[in-house]
Amino acid sequence: MDSIWIKGGTRLEGRIPISGAKNAALTLIPCALLTDEELTLGNLPRLADVDSFAHLMNELGVTTKVSGKRGADHKRAMTLKADHIESTVAPYELVRKMRASILVLGPMLARMGESTVSLPGGCAIGDRPIDLHLRALEAMGAEIELAAGYVKASAPKGRLPGGDYSFPVVSVGATENAVMAAVLATGRTQLFNAAREPEIVDLCNLLVAMGARIEGIGTSHLVIDGVEGLHGADYEVMPDRIEAGSYACAAGITGGSIELVGARPGDMLAITNALAAAGLVTEFTDDGIKVSATGKLKPLAISTAPYPGFPTDMQAQFMSMLALAEGESYLEETIFENRYMHVPELRRMGANIDTRGRSAIVHGVEGLTGAQVMATDLRASMSLVLAGLAAEGETEVLRVYHLDRGYERLEEKLSAVGATIERRGG
Ligand code: EPZ
Repeated sequence: MDSIWIKGGTRLEGRIPISGAKNAALTLIPCALLTDEELTLGNLPRLADVDSFAHLMNELGVTTKVSGKRGADHKRAMTLKADHIESTVAPYELVRKMRASILVLGPMLARMGESTVSLPGGCAIGDRPIDLHLRALEAMGAEIELAAGYVKASAPKGRLPGGDYSFPVVSVGATENAVMAAVLATGRTQLFNAAREPEIVDLCNLLVAMGARIEGIGTSHLVIDGVEGLHGADYEVMPDRIEAGSYACAAGITGGSIELVGARPGDMLAITNALAAAGLVTEFTDDGIKVSATGKLKPLAISTAPYPGFPTDMQAQFMSMLALAEGESYLEETIFENRYMHVPELRRMGANIDTRGRSAIVHGVEGLTGAQVMATDLRASMSLVLAGLAAEGETEVLRVYHLDRGYERLEEKLSAVGATIERRGG
């Protein structure tokens, strides 16, 4: 099992290219199910989760073709074509590896009138039910059956009529499934309290490019008028705001300065505001965002929230950086019930953190020391890498497959800005 070895203590300086967004790619890929024409997605990140999703699409009968040489910009495109769907069942052995597979439920139902997906089950950060996905589809006219660990959705007359649904809790995935189900309905669907993440804007923009009719894009009230059919498109995945935010924390924790090339400031104002409050200078350049440390880090009080609030996917990374701030920081994780798995490992590196339920107090310390640590989930793994970059001595992060799910060419990108980091097989 691979691990990442780091020798900490170097100020990181330079430019890091930001890849396509994992959480946009994972909702754009299933859109191929909505048409029998070719869908080409550019700027697709080279990530384990993207490859897993492509494999799932192949299982359903969707052909996928990857192009894009390993040129200077590493950009990759994938062309998908669902002109011959062989199965409407997403099997357990694939879904258990990647819960985002649930995002085939809506588009497959819209295209084929039925869709069966293994229930994803929970994961390290929480129970992560899919009840809101199912309620939204039912409100649009779907019949839902749960049996033997699978959920089967079907449209009684072959096509969903559409309908209105108000989400009691903001849910990114449930909003995505509902939007993808609504675009081929016979009537109108209105979604209230819909998630507004930039990845959902990217999804809506792609669907409109494919011929869908969606009003209110970017707001929590989406109005979708179903159309007879959608055509193919050639679309570029948005840049990854969480990857960009993670590397901004690398500048902060090492006292360095990193330009996040390709990052889109409008997607990450809550992140850049928090970086500024922690004492970092953020400059919007022609190429992206430059983040520079200016001395000691200032403590923060952060509460995670749905977009445009502070993203839960940045909580672990900020906690690492704030472990070295002057004073006490307060974090509240309002989205997931178990997203402090990085805390025990950070403590082993000398961080002084107390947690109680969804709250954490981070008492700033002078420095961290390297250690062998265990990754538990994607963003927790990144928080350990960040701590290792700043720590005195050597750090080895085990179970690095978690990192490969969401960070493309991590050690290459960090080495390019001066980090002493390498991947070790074993
Ligand atoms: C998406 O997960 C992201 N994943 C997550 O990123 C991200 O943390 C999350 O949104 C919140 O922003 C992808 O986009 C692939 P939710 P998702 O539905 O859709 C509860 C990463 O690190 N809920 O917005 O699963 C749920 O338990 C990953 O890149 C229900 O109760 O998140 C959670 O408490 C981690 N019932 C809250 O809503 C449901 O049916 C928000 O979950 C669905 C969700």
